[in-house]
Amino acid sequence: MLMAKKELIYGCMGLGGGWNTNSLSSDDFKQAENAVEAALEVGITYFDHADIYTNGKAELVFGQLLKAKPSLRDKIILQSKAGIRHHEGLMNSSIYDLSKKYLLQQVDIILKRLQTDYLDVFMLHRPDPLLNPEEIADTFRILKKEGKVKRFGVSNMTLHQIDFIQKHCDDQLAVNQIELSLKHSLLIDAGILANRVHTPDFNGVEGLLEYTQSNNLAIQAYSPLMGGRFSGNDLLASKEDKITIDLVSQLAEKYNTTASAILLAWVIKIPGNIQPIIGTTNPKRIAECKDAVTIDLSRLDWYNLWITARGEKIP
Ligand SMILES: NC(=O)c1ccc[n+]([C@@H]2O[C@H](COP(=O)([O-])OP(=O)(O)OC[C@H]3O[C@@H](n4cnc5c(N)ncnc54)[C@H](OP(=O)(O)O)[C@@H]3O)[C@@H](O)[C@H]2O)c1
Repeated sequence: MLMAKKELIYGCMGLGGGWNTNSLSSDDFKQAENAVEAALEVGITYFDHADIYTNGKAELVFGQLLKAKPSLRDKIILQSKAGIRHHEGLMNSSIYDLSKKYLLQQVDIILKRLQTDYLDVFMLHRPDPLLNPEEIADTFRILKKEGKVKRFGVSNMTLHQIDFIQKHCDDQLAVNQIELSLKHSLLIDAGILANRVHTPDFNGVEGLLEYTQSNNLAIQAYSPLMGGRFSGNDLLASKEDKITIDLVSQLAEKYNTTASAILLAWVIKIPGNIQPIIGTTNPKRIAECKDAVTIDLSRLDWYNLWITARGEKIP
């Protein structure tokens, strides 16, 4: 298996001025410009979107940036996803829709908003219980043939859901994007707690890490900084978090870096091609992530962080 390049992705969910129906303002443009510049400055060239982020405004503002700097398009990897559909019906819940008609329609909307002719990666945002894998494979075939999408991926899917879709696709799926961080570590907890008396419910992630490595899928880890819970956001940190926060800060000193970089380096050290997606819109906090791709945490430090954040011994 080839060693994957260590890289961070910039998640654009915070761009566009909030989840409302306000029009984009010049402040929203400035915020996006500053965040994207800060990301490029630390070597991030991969940008993650979804059609729903800030009700479409994250893509719209990014499209304005690309229009202002057309030379940027060929220097970046641009990905977006669709499949979560707003629905005004019962309980005001969203529904999922991975039908061919809906996905083809959404890709056209995404390309128009982003002011680009193609996506490098297009992803299915969530598993739809009504999905038909042959229809999805056909959708991918059409999008590739029309030159609108280069590669395809999924998000929030289990090993079996990925395998079910993959069997019908012409191309190897490129990625599964799921939540993964020092505190949300079910993916690796699953590997050590199988066959225990009180085995917790792993929500289907058991074996996913091994599957993605064997099949060359990247894992894109979303919310890797947990909203800053262990790296300075006091509003999110609980009393029990103090011991982990202190350890993260000691390690930041030891490796001559920041708390954010330590948390991301912990995620990157998990075997396979793990790409953390950072979502802060704050240029200073983006810069603080830079060292994550160069730090190599020792085995002892990696375990120490995991066990401390878990709050209990491993078996
Ligand atoms: N596929 C999916 O279902 C899915 C779900 C969620 C997210 N995602 C993707 O993953 C990306 C990252 O997710 P995320 O935004 O949850 O990840 P994150 O990087 O873990 O958290 C970013 C959020 O935490 C805040 N934050 C970070 N450090 C902070 C600190 N020290 N003090 C105060 N606030 C702090 C940021 O606020 P500031 O902006 O003010 O810094 C921002 O709101 C998203 O942009 C999106 O692209 C995908």
